[in-house]
Amino acid sequence: MPTALIFGASGGIGRALVERLAADGWTVGAVSRHPGDLAGLTDHRYEADVTDAFAVSQAVYAAAQELPPVDLWIYAAGDILASPVAEMEPAAWARILGANLTGAYLTTQQSLPLLAERAHLILLGAYSERLQLPGMSAYAAAKAGLEAFAAALAKEQRKHRVTVVRPGAVATPLWEKVPLRLPRTALAPAELAQRVLDAYHAGVTGTLDL
Ligand SMILES: NC(=O)c1ccc[n+]([C@@H]2O[C@H](COP(=O)([O-])OP(=O)(O)OC[C@H]3O[C@@H](n4cnc5c(N)ncnc54)[C@H](OP(=O)(O)O)[C@@H]3O)[C@@H](O)[C@H]2O)c1
Repeated sequence: MPTALIFGASGGIGRALVERLAADGWTVGAVSRHPGDLAGLTDHRYEADVTDAFAVSQAVYAAAQELPPVDLWIYAAGDILASPVAEMEPAAWARILGANLTGAYLTTQQSLPLLAERAHLILLGAYSERLQLPGMSAYAAAKAGLEAFAAALAKEQRKHRVTVVRPGAVATPLWEKVPLRLPRTALAPAELAQRVLDAYHAGVTGTLDL
């Protein structure tokens, strides 16, 4: 069975991905700030804040000792904030850019040596152009940046597939951080996880809107 490595594995979408893949018999490496949450789902749990270069390198090193080459690599960490630019603290800007963009760079870079020959890297993005709304500058900028990062990465890593998955709304704790109502059309995390897995099996690259 193939092997996956998932960052942001304790989140609504990340955890659903761990559950789906583990249920299908995959070997799953799960990286989280609190990996104890994932006990019982996978034995391959690692702790890291994705914005901490040293912690990421330690987690990836530990994963390299345990896991076969990684076929499916997923970046499902992320954070959101609703704050007008005029009021946003520098630390808040750094937190949102860190979780959504810098963490993607750090975890990708450290993980490249672990990838199987034709691995698939999937990064959780968002409809960045629709997010250019009052209060959403940091999140929208980070997600637009993630798409640019992934497009350049795909041209560097031609032996691998790179996909930015852009979900619409998914019912996860992320929505509790913004003064927005979850749309009735929101997907369950398990449904999104299944669609991500379908994209892996279909070999979808580039940007995938779900
Ligand atoms: N839910 C949606 O409707 C939706 C729509 C479009 C895109 N997305 C994207 O999908 C991804 C997953 O979102 P979600 O809905 O699953 O959100 P979530 O339930 O809030 O999960 C996000 C996860 O990211 C982790 N994280 C944040 N900052 C981190 C850091 N510095 N280091 C390590 N982990 C960090 C969080 O860790 P802790 O548990 O430790 O806080 C949390 O487990 C995000 O990139 C989000 O932007 C979601």
